[in-house]
Amino acid sequence: MITWFQLVVEICLGFWEHMVQLVYPPLAKSLVGEVVLITGAGHGIGRELALQCARLGAKVVCWDINAQTAQETAQRVNEEWAVNATHVDTPIRAWSFQCDVSKREEVNKVADETRLKVGEITVLINNAGIMPAKPMLKFEPHEIERLFDVNVFSQYWTIMQFMPGMIKRDHGHVVSMCSVAGITGTPYLVPYCSSKFAIKGLMDGLFLEMRQDMKESRVRLTTVHPFTINTGLAVDPMTRFPKLIPIHEASECAQQVIDGFRRNYEEVFVPKILGPVFRLGKCLPRRVQTALADFLNCGVGYNK
Ligand SMILES: NC(=O)c1ccc[n+]([C@@H]2O[C@H](COP(=O)([O-])OP(=O)(O)OC[C@H]3O[C@@H](n4cnc5c(N)ncnc54)[C@H](O)[C@@H]3O)[C@@H](O)[C@H]2O)c1
Repeated sequence: MITWFQLVVEICLGFWEHMVQLVYPPLAKSLVGEVVLITGAGHGIGRELALQCARLGAKVVCWDINAQTAQETAQRVNEEWAVNATHVDTPIRAWSFQCDVSKREEVNKVADETRLKVGEITVLINNAGIMPAKPMLKFEPHEIERLFDVNVFSQYWTIMQFMPGMIKRDHGHVVSMCSVAGITGTPYLVPYCSSKFAIKGLMDGLFLEMRQDMKESRVRLTTVHPFTINTGLAVDPMTRFPKLIPIHEASECAQQVIDGFRRNYEEVFVPKILGPVFRLGKCLPRRVQTALADFLNCGVGYNK
């Protein structure tokens, strides 16, 4: 508990820090020597995250339900590493493992294999996700359950595997791929939105719990909220003003994610403009919010 005086001081410092960071962002930490595990690294944003983290000096561990695509990502990283490294101490920079992250037992087993083969994970990027799109009442119950298994429970299982080691070593970072669909609802993505709201709750709650119980901890958390990214995950994505709210390529998204977590930001929006837009938008009356949404005309279609 804090006093009235401390509250006023905290509010002033909070605003001051925010303003200063807009002009002078925190320095980006190095990834050299880090071991970054990326779930869903076989395609899209996950693959780009693997390639770019490796270029910044990290070892990368590629998990995917699809063994072949995970292996392809690791191979691309290793090929780049072999060509570009000046001191090739080891030809291996990336490892791949097949893992269906929705299955707790499988996550536990593959986590043990990973530690044995590669070592302790210092950065966990929970990226694997699925996005089935259709009107809410057309979903089968098993599809909704699967979506929560892949998008939500998987992130609990990996965090429970790797965060205790980070806390013990007082070094580590957990990055979670959420979505703007974890901040606002979207037609045809009702189960997806609720899964991403659950991720927002997981990361927000964990952040506040750590702040309360582990004040001095140097383990960091980052939640990422991308708008639509051109990976094929979203069906028929729309944006009326692509200059203002662009549909980024996976490489651009990965670059912004990495830049954000290297600066220890708690939240990253891709594109950045959506951060203030959503924060301010939430204060508006519902009718104004929906009018703005109609005007901006962002959304997705679905396979009929
Ligand atoms: N693409 C977008 O428009 C967008 C927007 C906002 C948020 N996101 C989020 O970003 C993340 C990555 O999206 P993407 O567009 O790169 O997707 P993608 O479909 O291109 O790649 C996802 C990868 O995850 C893997 N995967 C799926 N289920 C898995 C499971 N059970 N276990 C392990 N791996 C599994 C897939 O095989 C695939 O390689 C997702 O969490 C998604 O919700 C994407």
